Amino acid sequence: MNSDVPSRRITLQALCDSVGVGPPEPDRLGPADWRRLAALHRECLPGSAIAALGERYAERFYRYLSDSAQEHAFLHRDARGAIDAACVLSLDPGALNCRLWRRTPLLWSLLRASGARGRRALASALSPFPGAHRYESGDGAPAVFDAPELILVFVAPGRRRRGVGRALLARARAWLREAGYRRCLARTRDHPRNRAVEFYRATGFELRGRSSRRGFQVWESGV
Ligand SMILES: CC(C)(COP(=O)(O)OP(=O)(O)OC[C@H]1O[C@@H](n2cnc3c(N)ncnc32)[C@H](O)[C@@H]1OP(=O)(O)O)[C@@H](O)C(=O)NCCC(=O)NCCS
Repeated sequence: MNSDVPSRRITLQALCDSVGVGPPEPDRLGPADWRRLAALHRECLPGSAIAALGERYAERFYRYLSDSAQEHAFLHRDARGAIDAACVLSLDPGALNCRLWRRTPLLWSLLRASGARGRRALASALSPFPGAHRYESGDGAPAVFDAPELILVFVAPGRRRRGVGRALLARARAWLREAGYRRCLARTRDHPRNRAVEFYRATGFELRGRSSRRGFQVWESGV
């Protein structure tokens, strides 16, 4: 019997308790959550394609998540019950774009987005989430990174550096482990001032590759 298992569970529970997050199961999202998550997403990730597509699309994106079998959300709430952080996991990130084209008004939202923000959305995001297979490994060779991906992690500005992001990742990883997965990916902007790089490194991810064309880094860790 592996004596590590109970102590690892206690550690995860203690971590979750200490920052007030619940058990590993994903959270169910209702209409009030779609609105709150859309607003928080746009505040925390203003440069993302979803933010550039506007408030209505962001809400539709979170509404899509609420009944997706392939995407799961893990939420954190403040003392008054308001969502102040979230982590979104995709079990099939390579086909997420196809699902978004089919099940959200992506085309209409791209056409409606105007000006510089709209053009940026269009350029960076004919697909908001580039497929997980279009990347280069550390030595520049094309690589396939085929694993569940933490497609979004964000914490309200006033709640950062208190372990909330780390605890949400721990919940998502614990759920993945229970579901039989062994690895997960994360992706972030390839930019020297991007602090998310330190966050992923501190939470056990290793840099696996980059997409120079789209300016993203791909990170991987065990769960
Ligand atoms: C990245 C982010 C999710 C981190 O959430 P958080 O709750 O502040 O992170 P934690 O408190 O759990 O930090 C865990 C560790 O990551 C590292 N870290 C987190 N934020 C960091 C920062 N701004 N600078 C340097 N290291 C950082 C630290 O090592 C930290 O441990 P420590 O506080 O004990 O030193 C949050 O800053 C955020 O929402 N940023 C904007 C959105 C974003 O960039 N998301 C990631 C890409 S989708």
